[in-house]
Amino acid sequence: DDAETVLDGDSLLVVSNRQPYKHSYDEDGSITVDRPAGGLTAGIDPVMQETDGTWIAWGDGDADSDVVDEHDRVRVPPESEAYTLRRVWLTEDEVDDYYYGYSNQVLWPLCHGGMWKTEFADEFWTQYRDVNETFAEAVVDEYDDDSLVWFQDYHFGLAPQMVREGLPDAFLMHFWHIPWPGWDTFRSLPNCEELLAGLLGNDLLGFHTDWYCENFLDCVDEAFENAFVDRDQKRVRHDGHTTHVESFPLSIDYDEITSKSADADEEWFEEFRRSYGIGDDVQLAVGIDRLDYTKGIPERLDALARLWEEHPEWREKLTFFQKGSESRSRISDYRELQEEVEEAVTRINRRFGTDDWTPIVYTEEMLPETDLYGLCRHSDVALVSPLRDGMNLVAKEYVAAQRDEDGVLVLSDQAGAHEEFGDDAVTINPHDVDDFVEQLQYALTMDESERRERMRRMRQRVEQYDLFAWLRDSLSTARDVKHRRDTE
Ligand code: F6P
Repeated sequence: DDAETVLDGDSLLVVSNRQPYKHSYDEDGSITVDRPAGGLTAGIDPVMQETDGTWIAWGDGDADSDVVDEHDRVRVPPESEAYTLRRVWLTEDEVDDYYYGYSNQVLWPLCHGGMWKTEFADEFWTQYRDVNETFAEAVVDEYDDDSLVWFQDYHFGLAPQMVREGLPDAFLMHFWHIPWPGWDTFRSLPNCEELLAGLLGNDLLGFHTDWYCENFLDCVDEAFENAFVDRDQKRVRHDGHTTHVESFPLSIDYDEITSKSADADEEWFEEFRRSYGIGDDVQLAVGIDRLDYTKGIPERLDALARLWEEHPEWREKLTFFQKGSESRSRISDYRELQEEVEEAVTRINRRFGTDDWTPIVYTEEMLPETDLYGLCRHSDVALVSPLRDGMNLVAKEYVAAQRDEDGVLVLSDQAGAHEEFGDDAVTINPHDVDDFVEQLQYALTMDESERRERMRRMRQRVEQYDLFAWLRDSLSTARDVKHRRDTE
């Protein structure tokens, strides 16, 4: 009901690279459907189910093309067929150049400030543009007068302008899930103006933080002489069109995680410790990350090694549990990171480990939700130390799972989440090993009342601004912007 009220008769036309449902063949030839796992797809899915919108995404499952109709549409979820999923097919080459290439070897590193990791290649750009065109055509095809088009993320920097050309009056909005860099970094991109112009095809453009909004406005200001950037009104006038630029810090389903973490009770924790050989007289620190070089995992392991070296009292008294999830492995930087992490874990465990104690427990295995939330609930400290991160939802998930309010969040000042938690988290700069060690020591010895106070405040923040508040905020701003646009 909530979503319907906010949408006020409009229906959502969501565009994302990853799809909310994926059809695959089992070994016995039957078709299975994978459920949304990521925060965003899981968050938008209920709104779509309630309001019967259309979702356009890349069909990357091996059975996807066998379940769609002649318009490449399938009703999802299978049991209730509540809304339409329109699949877009990409060739191997397109996936290589648009997804692994331009999206993840150009825009991803560049937006995270890693100019030196950026691999420019003409074919990356050409295919990125062509795939954006393919998605734009699908949008035009699926569009109705009451559609509210919502692009997700950096895979679609050009599509908004392309759709705008075909549908001048459509309402287009976009949420950019990664940081937006300063002009000094962004200007190194050979196609920087085309990308900015592409995004300015939107009526509303959202980022996680005000800082990224400011960076974006700076870029527009510098790139286009004829753009009018109105910082007070948070809008840009360019090429006869107005784009509003606002921050909407993405969040998580607080209630669900808090309630699921209840399943991981003391008994679960005892069993979990036993199965990983973690003694009950050691403190537990946890890290949960996609294996991405932006997450600062090697830096975190360095800090831990330094702690055990300089503060031997923590040997046999602190175990670090790192869960890593394999990601984008076709890119060599990602494979190298995986090796680097494994080597560092082995080295540290060899150096400090004893017969009774393994300093770092490392796993890349899929863990059930109960284990993940249980780890967050029962660990004494969480280490979230990205070198740069748009938001970092693990920090928020940790806080939501901390139902006993007794853990400490150690958080990099380079994560978007830091803008919300500020000094309630123990702040580190991931490059400053000495300070990282000192803050770790502080986190591990913090007295109970301070721990609880900080955690309570962080929990309040996430409870108030959860995923549904983010959705309401984004959609009601869209409605206001649309209303203003149509009446001005
Ligand atoms: O943080 C940006 C993001 O695109 C998320 O939306 C997504 O969960 C994550 O990166 C992983 O991305 P990929 O789809 O490339 O596996």
